[in-house]
Amino acid sequence: MPDAAQILIERFTRRDACVGVVGLGYVGLPLVRALHDAGFRVIGYDVDDAKIEQLRRGEAYLKHLGDALPKELAASDRFTPTSSPEDLSACDAICLCVPTPLGSHQEPDLSYVEDSTRMVGSVLKAGALVVLESTSYPGTTREVCLPLLESGNRRCGRDFFLAFSPEREDPGRRGFETRTIPRLVGGIDEPSGKVAHALYSAAVEQAVLLDSAETAEAAKLLENIYRAVNIALVNELKPVLADMGIDIWKVIKAAATKPFGFQAFYPGPGLGGHCIPIDPYYLTHKAREYGHATRFIELAGEINSRMPLAVVDRVAHALNQDAKPVKGSRVLVVGIAYKPDVDDVRETPAAEIIRLLLERGAIVSYHDPHIARFPDMRRYQFDLASSPLDQAHVDAADCVLIVTNHSDLDYALLAARAKLIVDTRDAMARVTPGQARVVKA
Ligand SMILES: NC(=O)c1ccc[n+]([C@@H]2O[C@H](COP(=O)([O-])OP(=O)(O)OC[C@H]3O[C@@H](n4cnc5c(N)ncnc54)[C@H](O)[C@@H]3O)[C@@H](O)[C@H]2O)c1
Repeated sequence: MPDAAQILIERFTRRDACVGVVGLGYVGLPLVRALHDAGFRVIGYDVDDAKIEQLRRGEAYLKHLGDALPKELAASDRFTPTSSPEDLSACDAICLCVPTPLGSHQEPDLSYVEDSTRMVGSVLKAGALVVLESTSYPGTTREVCLPLLESGNRRCGRDFFLAFSPEREDPGRRGFETRTIPRLVGGIDEPSGKVAHALYSAAVEQAVLLDSAETAEAAKLLENIYRAVNIALVNELKPVLADMGIDIWKVIKAAATKPFGFQAFYPGPGLGGHCIPIDPYYLTHKAREYGHATRFIELAGEINSRMPLAVVDRVAHALNQDAKPVKGSRVLVVGIAYKPDVDDVRETPAAEIIRLLLERGAIVSYHDPHIARFPDMRRYQFDLASSPLDQAHVDAADCVLIVTNHSDLDYALLAARAKLIVDTRDAMARVTPGQARVVKA
């Protein structure tokens, strides 16, 4: 093993090192917390000056992480937020946590990975480690990042180290945090793998060293494809069972009593978030290079992306039973975040549902305790602000449509006062039935 690798491993093990985190979003900021808590000096870099200013002032911009974290970081002499690339030249390791979205034709958009890798290459200290954490297809670290870092005579495994370590963060999930979620690590070469493994072993409870960056990249995609496919399966079965008079949520609960061979996934209004609707297509793209089709991924995408339309059809059908057309009916959408208890609307199915309802002439309002205004999105712009979830608003609605089952909503009020509830999450199962007619969608 090169001396430089051994030196880094010893420094990481002693937590006597400075680690840079590039991209301080849903993944980067929790990583900062894990590294800082472990005792490292941490430099947090982002191109978004607003985030850097908020971190300097100790203000929270990701509510689910709590108010204490930014305050603690702002008061710490081991944390520096910055938007100056030169500050990263002090780092012994730099982790890239930048977005990996899809382009307009569902193709991977690696521009954030390329830009940030180029920037890191321009300031990288000799002998330092670079780790890509952003989700991408197998080969990204070697084929995209490596050439950008190996400029001039600088060589990986000798002058710097390069690895992939996928982030498995699940914002809003209780009981897990960066430190307690096992980490996969795969290097571009053996020294890189060992150096990266030493870094994460010092910051999280369990780091698993794999044989290559590609295995780590593929493992992350398998995890998310597995979710997308299984969610599509229950989404497909939902109307089939409903037409047989069977409640799919009861069926899943029953099947989940089997202690092996079955894992529960739940139907819903469609996929959301920065991961599950997007990541599988990264593999689809790469598979084409090898002449393969990824039919499960395509089929799951097709089924899951049809869900908003299925939900709106259900609303139309339920209103029809009350002798009301969609046009002119007041629909109160409850929950617009893509999943419970977060303020994240990226790829939220609520956007397409609201667009379809507006297109059909419904008068749409929404309530979400985590999102005061519906933010402008690439494909959707609504001039909507969250209404209170009180008696007057519930009484006024012809239909309450539950899209996201946040835990701190007054479901008892909905049961007691709403005329009609279309429930995409089986959220009303938790309260005693009231006057509301509940239709599962
Ligand atoms: N959100 C999740 O739950 C989650 C979970 C696992 C993995 N991931 C993956 O992690 C990666 C990051 O996702 P995220 O949810 O944290 O995204 P995010 O949008 O919340 O954060 C990304 C941050 O990167 C910054 N950024 C953009 N370009 C930059 C650049 N050139 N240099 C420095 N900073 C830059 C943005 O300003 C933003 O603050 C993605 O690949 C995603 O697929 C996300």
